[in-house]
Amino acid sequence: SAAEKGGYEHFMLKEMYEQPKAVSDTLSPRIKGNRIVIEELGMSDEEIRSIRKIYIIACGSAFHSGMTNKYVFEGLARIPVEVDLASEFRYRDPIFEPDTLVIIVSQSGETADSLAALREAKAHGVPVLGIVNVVGSSIAREADHVMYTWAGPEIAVATTKAYSTQLIAQYLLALKFAQVRGTVTDEELEEMIQDLKELPDQIEMLLNNKEKIQHFANRYIAARDVFFIGRGIDYAISMEGSLKLKEISYIHSEAYAAGELKHGTISLIEDGTLVAAVLTQESLYKKMISNIEEVRTRGAFVLAVTNVGNHEVEKTADYVIYIPKTNRYFTNSLAIIPLQLFGYYVAIGKGCDVDKPRNLAKSVTVE
Ligand code: G6P
Repeated sequence: SAAEKGGYEHFMLKEMYEQPKAVSDTLSPRIKGNRIVIEELGMSDEEIRSIRKIYIIACGSAFHSGMTNKYVFEGLARIPVEVDLASEFRYRDPIFEPDTLVIIVSQSGETADSLAALREAKAHGVPVLGIVNVVGSSIAREADHVMYTWAGPEIAVATTKAYSTQLIAQYLLALKFAQVRGTVTDEELEEMIQDLKELPDQIEMLLNNKEKIQHFANRYIAARDVFFIGRGIDYAISMEGSLKLKEISYIHSEAYAAGELKHGTISLIEDGTLVAAVLTQESLYKKMISNIEEVRTRGAFVLAVTNVGNHEVEKTADYVIYIPKTNRYFTNSLAIIPLQLFGYYVAIGKGCDVDKPRNLAKSVTVE
């Protein structure tokens, strides 16, 4: 009903607007002064110090949150991370070495493949940490350790606020591990905590810019293919941006690691093909700009999402959306906002049922 949607046209829009609060609710209980404290985790410093490998296992957008956090865990806590789709992991006879931690990420806590992966790990005696939104769900109950995302109930099939809190929970976990393992200095930690605290307001600001994206999206409701490109952490957010668009608008889209374009995808670029390029990593700006040039030469129209201040991009891209300044590990939390809005507005422009896209379910409890 309209009342349930709190005045918003769709649950998806309402839930996108709940992101500043969801992010803040997930963050604030875990920040105590200049330290990260995850009360419910129940892992001793000794356990945290002993971890030598992490598997992050999930499905759908939760898997994408793991793709982002591979970079974050490896960068901040210096622990090697493998990210797996739950449906692949469980059937490939994975190698469990000693001192491995399995992290299962799930909004519902009921996804059949993710639950099966959890059981597979436990059967091998590997400790499992669940990052879960629904309190008391199967994954929350069966995991050895739990960390909750405090997104609140999510109704729209396409996840927005739960995904955003999955990013945050994993940043916090990576920082907690980094703090215990001494891989970041106190000053770095303090700065990153400051940046985390600013995310809710920055997300709010990006949401309030929705007209600009709506206007742009209206030009692409007839698109046949859209490509999302990025490098490093921006490749991870490209995957989630691409999924948001395709799952609700039924427009074919793909995410590509920008450096890999010339090994395949570039042959699909035609006059007017939309390419969304994400470039939030300063060390990769130059490489990304040459990738943008490559697709533009073949006729692509390029929408760039980059950091405020990187005006250089305006010379190459056709349309630029700026995200506010944050730590380089946290940019995905901001870059995803315009991409979610883009998917949403393209889908409603096409008259799609955004809250209940065809063939999809909110929670997949069968194989
Ligand atoms: C379904 C949903 C996705 C979600 C995925 C994993 O496919 O439509 O939005 O990302 O399941 O769900 P989970 O509850 O485990 O996060």
